[in-house]
Amino acid sequence: MTDIRNIVVLTGAGISAESGIATFRGPGGLWEGHRVEDVCTPEALVRDPALVHRFYDLRRAALAAVEPNAAHRALARLDAHWPGELLIVTQNVDDLHERAGARRLLHMHGELRSALCARCGARTAWAGDLPPATVCDACGAPALRPDIVFFGEMPYAMERIEAALEACDLFVSIGTSGAVYPAAGFVRTARWRGAQTIELNLDPSDGSVFFHESRMGAASVLVPEWVVSVLGDA
Ligand code: APR
Repeated sequence: MTDIRNIVVLTGAGISAESGIATFRGPGGLWEGHRVEDVCTPEALVRDPALVHRFYDLRRAALAAVEPNAAHRALARLDAHWPGELLIVTQNVDDLHERAGARRLLHMHGELRSALCARCGARTAWAGDLPPATVCDACGAPALRPDIVFFGEMPYAMERIEAALEACDLFVSIGTSGAVYPAAGFVRTARWRGAQTIELNLDPSDGSVFFHESRMGAASVLVPEWVVSVLGDA
């Protein structure tokens, strides 16, 4: 990896699967138990706020029972030792990257352990249940909602992500099906800018054809191996 300086890593639900957090589209996936339209759209939040808030309360509570796995820990080690630019862009709303020690990280689809004010946009760390109409401390409106980017809403930090993709020499996608945009298009942006592109995934994804290299297997095995290949014995 001699000519690699700037790295962008994209992670999806597959990196947290071995920690016990269900993915979305696999067997027993989250979307098998719930219709996206019922729990992950602005319309659902208006139609049945109690159902939507409860869905995310249950997922937030489940975080206490799971731990980062070797893949999260390997990325945290990369973060600690990589001398060049690094941005870990996660589609996941769990906190396992942070708990493993990652710092150069952003959640493009929001976070379970955060509440968003629908009135003023303030974001607040949130650990417990979040009932509908909870009052926002910043503006006083009874308007706190799960800080989750719903389908049809704009993901967070897209300008920062685009800038990192434009400048990267290596783009690595881990544990994502490539089914949801804009994340599914990142590989093409990176490749068009001349970056090397690698996919580490259990199964071929919708975007496998766009990667220079696709390695199939479990993240807990492939990610530590890949990090060793990048860091050497650092
Ligand atoms: N190791 C590596 N990859 C895995 C593992 C594993 N142990 N287990 C599953 N995978 C892979 C699957 O092969 C699949 O390609 O992880 C991917 C999970 O795909 P999805 O369930 O579609 O999750 P994701 O790609 O993160 O979904 C993207 O869609 O529903 C929305 O907002 C939600 O952020 C989510 C987005």
